[in-house]
This record gives sequence, C-alpha cells and structure tokens, in this order.
Amino acid sequence: LQPQSFHQILVDWADTHGRHDLPWQQRPTPYSVHVSEIMLQQTQVATVIPYFERWMASFPDLQALAHATEDHVMHHWQGLGYYSRARNLQKAAQYLLEQFSAHYPRTLKQIEMIPGVGRYTAGAIVSFAYNERGPIVDGNVRRLFCRYFAIDGVPSTSAVSRKLWDYAEQYTLDTHCRAYAQSLLDMGATICTAKNPACTICPLQTSCQAYQQQRVEQLPTPKPK
Ligand code: ADE
Repeated sequence: LQPQSFHQILVDWADTHGRHDLPWQQRPTPYSVHVSEIMLQQTQVATVIPYFERWMASFPDLQALAHATEDHVMHHWQGLGYYSRARNLQKAAQYLLEQFSAHYPRTLKQIEMIPGVGRYTAGAIVSFAYNERGPIVDGNVRRLFCRYFAIDGVPSTSAVSRKLWDYAEQYTLDTHCRAYAQSLLDMGATICTAKNPACTICPLQTSCQAYQQQRVEQLPTPKPK
C-alpha cells in the first residue's frame, strides 16, 4: 500500500484495538516519554510499569533527576538491568539543564544529541510528546516491516537497517503522529508477534508481502547461530 492508506489503516486500527491505558500515555511530556522509552528498550511493559511510576514520583522533572545522587538514581533502577541506561538518563538531565535550561529541544536532530538518545528514542519523543512527525524503528517495527515489505536479510545488519529506516521515513506522515507511532508498537506487540502472529485478524493482511508469499514464519531472517 501507499503510505497514506497504510497510515490510515493503522491509525483506525489503533483507535479500537490499540493500548490507551499505559501510564506513560497519560499526559505524555518529552521527559516522561524519554524515561519510559529508555526503560522499555530492553524490558517488558508489565515489568516497566511500577518502575516508571516510582521513578516519576521521585524524579518528577529534569531538575529533580539532574540534582539527585547517583545512589538514589541507581536504587530506582535496581532490578531493571542494563544499568548504563539509568546513568545515561541522569547525564541527559544534566545536559538538558545546562544546554537548554531544562527544556527539551524541538527538532529530531537536536534531540538525537542528548546523551543516550538514539534515532528510535528521538523519534518516539517527537511522536508521543509533540505529536509531530518522528519516524521510529524498534524491534516491533523491524518485525512488522520485514514481513510487510518482505525484506530479506538479518535486521541488525547495516544494509537491512538502512532499508528499514528508509521505509520508516517514507511511511511516517505528519498527521496523527502519536496514534500512528503507537499503532506500530501495538501491532508488533499484539498482532505481528515473533511467534504465532495473528495474521487472520491483521488489518494489513491483504497487502502484506510476507503473507502473500507465505513467508510470515520465515521473516524477519533469523540471526545465524
Ligand atoms: N515499547 C516501546 N515503546 C512502547 C510504548 N510507548 N508503548 C508500549 N510499548 C512500547
């Protein structure tokens, strides 16, 4: 499908079938989106929820996080793993305080310069907090795109990664930006799953290249062992 139709189908699907009750979806700010997306990078939604709520209660804004002791910060991450994520969040808070008087910058380019923020997190902040156009590719989007566009090759390789980001750029429009981004993540989490994808109820079934070629189970190409 062309980007317009693809976008429309996903936004409509998310309206009725997407998740709308996650704590970071209530009044999203650049800071709350930043914190939740960093937590969600290597951790399941259900695990993240209580950590996110405790974090936001203790460090409600960038100032609180920037001025907290490292011990206090690490204590809030205890059990989440990948502890550099917590240190980077505090570094980011200090950077934003010094460089931008504790205001997140507006453009993708500037947001990508925040310590610990990559292309995905920057796109998520712009989409979810500003409701502006911010292409995203994470594990969910990778799986969905590899199937929908029948992209061969291991997704973590630079050639495939470039293709995925090219599609993300092409298929991310500047309307309903928040709903579209959330729909991609929700589709990846609930329909286009790694195991037993729910193709029979997928709104993209008829135009999915992998489905047409009966290669849904083979894509994305697994990493060689
Ligand atoms: N996984 C990564 N980001 C997410 C989000 N904003 N909502 C649900 N799952 C996610």
